[in-house]
Amino acid sequence: MFHGDDGPSHNKVSSVLLSWYASNKRVLPWRDPQGLPTDPYRVWISEIMLQQTTVPTVRGYFERFISRWPSVQDLAKASLDDVLHEWQGLGYYSRAKNLHKCAVMIVEAFDGTFQTAEKDFLSLPGVGPYTAAAIQSIAFNSPSTVVDGNVERVIARLFSLKTPLPQAKAEIHKLAGHIRSEEEPSNYAQALMDLGSSVCTPKAPKCVICPLEKFCSAKKHNPESFPIRQKKKEKPTRRGIFYFIQDDKGRVLLEKRPLSGGLFSGLMALPSEGWDTTDDDPVTRLKIKNIKPLPEKVRHVFTHFSLIAEVRYAESTIAEGVWVFPEALSNYALPTLMKKIFKLTLPETVE
Ligand code: ADE
Repeated sequence: MFHGDDGPSHNKVSSVLLSWYASNKRVLPWRDPQGLPTDPYRVWISEIMLQQTTVPTVRGYFERFISRWPSVQDLAKASLDDVLHEWQGLGYYSRAKNLHKCAVMIVEAFDGTFQTAEKDFLSLPGVGPYTAAAIQSIAFNSPSTVVDGNVERVIARLFSLKTPLPQAKAEIHKLAGHIRSEEEPSNYAQALMDLGSSVCTPKAPKCVICPLEKFCSAKKHNPESFPIRQKKKEKPTRRGIFYFIQDDKGRVLLEKRPLSGGLFSGLMALPSEGWDTTDDDPVTRLKIKNIKPLPEKVRHVFTHFSLIAEVRYAESTIAEGVWVFPEALSNYALPTLMKKIFKLTLPETVE
């Protein structure tokens, strides 16, 4: 199966990887100092934050989140608005809503402990096979196979897999399980992640310092070309209008998006028109006057589409909605798109 010079067994790969990890392990805030047991709550929060978000971005969010809610019991007692506020700017807000819902369920249904079988954990909202396996393996050293984007790349290169992603996922999972260390699944999972992020990088992998180089089948066939990916469909582009409405005191009108659905559900946003199914006609509803378009368009890429947002300045004196002084905008859970708009409309207030 391996094309290395000395025909290594799968145990050899994991033992080489583990000794590399012992001296190259990244220091990350969710990894406990040596000697202390790994806290599954911290592993869970970090794994949810790390979905779709890079390690450097997650660091600060993780530290603030954990110092505010150090245990699952604390998180279960928090208000959803506070959790969303702490999540502000991380994007994919359903992660925060599910995290909060899960904390309540873990406290109520699992006695506040994480020591539960992978399949029970999988029944929680927002917990997929990846997260369940990551908690089991990283926190409890259970023999679960953890495959994130870094691991996919390392495995696809080790075996120079011809099957493109996403079809190759099951095959990669099987191969990652095949070379997994039975003694140290936690370190094995994290070692593969660290190797993928620091050595077996997407561009210009550092094969000369790679501990697995002698086992790697892709080294002779341009490692950068792995994993092979199926061509992605182009994202559709949507257009929408956002109203930056101020009253005579300079306050800005925000509205809470319905929790029942649509993008930004449960978050505060500027009144909008035309881009989301939950939008209605704000011009009549909010009695908007003196509308003036901002010359620049704001662009934002969501998971399934790109948005070109037109921003219109306007005035209104209606009482409904939440009128916020620009200096107080940071007290609200605002999606990144709103922050981009405020960068243009309120450059001195928003950092
Ligand atoms: N990416 C996803 N999970 C991770 C972890 N636990 N450590 C480092 N990078 C990660």
